[in-house]
Amino acid sequence: MTAATTSSPNLLQGDSSKVLQKLADDPKERGKYRLVITSPPYYGHRRYGGNSAEEVGRERTDQQFIDRLAEIFVACRELLTDDGSLWIVMGDTRRNMQKLMVPHRLALKLVENGGYIFREDVIWYKKNNVSSSSKENFAQSYEFILFLSKNEKSYTNLDLIRIRGNEAREGRNKTPPPQLLQHQPINPDKEKIARLEKIIHNASPDTPFSDLPLTSEISWAYGYDPEKYCPTCYRKFKRHATRKRIGDHKHYPIFAVCNPTGKNPGNVWEISTKAHYGNEHFAIFPEDLVARIINFGSEEGDWVLDPFMGRGTTGIVCALTGRNFTGIDLYPENLKKAKQNIADAIEGRYDEKLVEVVAREADLVKKSPPPPVNNNVTLESYLLNNKSQFPATDV
Ligand SMILES: C[S@@+](CC[C@H](N)C(=O)[O-])C[C@H]1O[C@@H](n2cnc3c(N)ncnc32)[C@H](O)[C@@H]1O
Repeated sequence: MTAATTSSPNLLQGDSSKVLQKLADDPKERGKYRLVITSPPYYGHRRYGGNSAEEVGRERTDQQFIDRLAEIFVACRELLTDDGSLWIVMGDTRRNMQKLMVPHRLALKLVENGGYIFREDVIWYKKNNVSSSSKENFAQSYEFILFLSKNEKSYTNLDLIRIRGNEAREGRNKTPPPQLLQHQPINPDKEKIARLEKIIHNASPDTPFSDLPLTSEISWAYGYDPEKYCPTCYRKFKRHATRKRIGDHKHYPIFAVCNPTGKNPGNVWEISTKAHYGNEHFAIFPEDLVARIINFGSEEGDWVLDPFMGRGTTGIVCALTGRNFTGIDLYPENLKKAKQNIADAIEGRYDEKLVEVVAREADLVKKSPPPPVNNNVTLESYLLNNKSQFPATDV
């Protein structure tokens, strides 16, 4: 089982500022982590325990909160590999009518004073967001996932998180039947392509459509049946052809083929929230969100750090995807919960739903299945028995 390749999780209790400082003093820890993934407490929202002096989120002002977080994430930078990255899942806070812009103020500080490169502010869209009772404000239906890298180049693997389907036409975005998919061009006709290109390039915006080649003609010339479907975007191939140019963009091809391994995911991720997990009342992040980041930003055997570990979601996904994990939390009871949750994941005592969500994101189907542990489902055995349920994600 993949988890067997990882060392046991390193769970550390204490204030992250202090624990991280200690780790950064250890030459074996500096430069060890490919990823830091975390969701810090919101500013001024809730209490996780009785330690009001050290608990993050209980500072007197939003500026103090941002300064404190910045200090923590700057310490994390020391621990990252040169190609490592930091992912912070966080929402904003409203005070009276005003949004405090906490995520972006933090990002700015990390770039200006912390040496980070700001790569992306992914929107985590929560379709099942909590409705709002406000008479003036919109319901808050997203959080930011701030993606910052230690240096300009960071380790990324888009191939593990590519998607299929046409996001723009959700309702009609059904997976076409296999016999209507075409994976390769058949006998593209170079001379015909050259002829069609010339006609289209020489046409003016006033040229009537009747003087231009049909989209199906263009598609055939490139070796694709216009009525067959693209296995990446699920659109018919005649929809890949451009017969009339808008403006003077002559460098664009008149027929574009999608990447056969899938499209780059967009920077809005629609993932349902998970308010409670059993009896644990945590603002936890969903496992599939963490799995997507882990697959994109690290390889098996890498070390991953979460300085606000909570119930250990990052550690659980690390256990399921063969990454090593270090987690920090202020409260001993959270450490205990996280330890148990991660042990359950390592030993195969996790529920099918969790396996399913991680499976959607993780590339573990290739591995051979281990013998089932105490009749509990294991990630690989579940996947192998249910392979057909996990085609590439339809969006
Ligand atoms: C939003 S929760 C994290 C939940 C986590 N992502 C999960 O999935 O369970 C924030 C966590 O930060 C912890 N925390 C707050 N202040 C801290 C500090 N100074 N040092 C370490 N952990 C702290 C809280 O105890 C809480 O567990």
